[in-house]
Amino acid sequence: MERLSKEEDVIATVGDYKIKVFSADKLADVMRINKTCLPENYPSSFFIYLHQNFPKAFLIAEKDGEVVGYIMCRVEYGLSNMGIKLTRKGHVVSIAVMPGHRRKGIATALLRAAEKALKEYGAKEMMLEVRVSNTPAISLYKKLGYKEVKVLKRYYSDGEDAYLMAKELEEDDDEK
Ligand code: ACO
Ligand code: ZN
Repeated sequence: MERLSKEEDVIATVGDYKIKVFSADKLADVMRINKTCLPENYPSSFFIYLHQNFPKAFLIAEKDGEVVGYIMCRVEYGLSNMGIKLTRKGHVVSIAVMPGHRRKGIATALLRAAEKALKEYGAKEMMLEVRVSNTPAISLYKKLGYKEVKVLKRYYSDGEDAYLMAKELEEDDDEK
């Protein structure tokens, strides 16, 4: 059936920006943003793998049809970063917003929407790695409640350390 309106695809809005689920026709846009914003780049198969396995947690920010940011995530089962237990962790693999569109709340909206999706996939906590020098990203994560759990020595291929940052996801009270 023809879809007349795509408005239901919009998960959130930030000013004129729309947060939507990634679709494969945006692959080139997302790969370009990833290359522009970050030294950690991946083959197209990796983006598609994440989209196929965790579609609700691979999101883009768009303005007038132009993609300006993305977040992609996966769910992992393993040792908690918050306590001694096995748990399901939502892992932020990569997030970026194009330079001309920063400090408008786009990454905040992407991350919040991704956390919600990861909860739907059963995640109990969130985790990510970030360069110890990446003040903008670390500030963003701290603002959303993430804490530095440990330092991963020489995590990046150029030898820089990473912070492993994590946060507990609250129980949903939607049904109350
Ligand atoms: N300096 C200090 N604090 C900052 C900065 C900055 N340059 N940028 C964001 N923040 C903090 C602030 O607290 C900000 O709130 P405020 O604007 O009210 O002060 C808060 O983060 C939220 O900012 P947003 O507007 O939501 O973030 P933005 O859309 O600008 O995107 C991002 C932030 C994704 C880190 C962007 O700067 C970027 O794309 N950087 C390059 C790519 C990158 O480093 N990605 C993260 C790598 S780690 C990983 O992917 C797991
Ligand atoms: Zn990671």
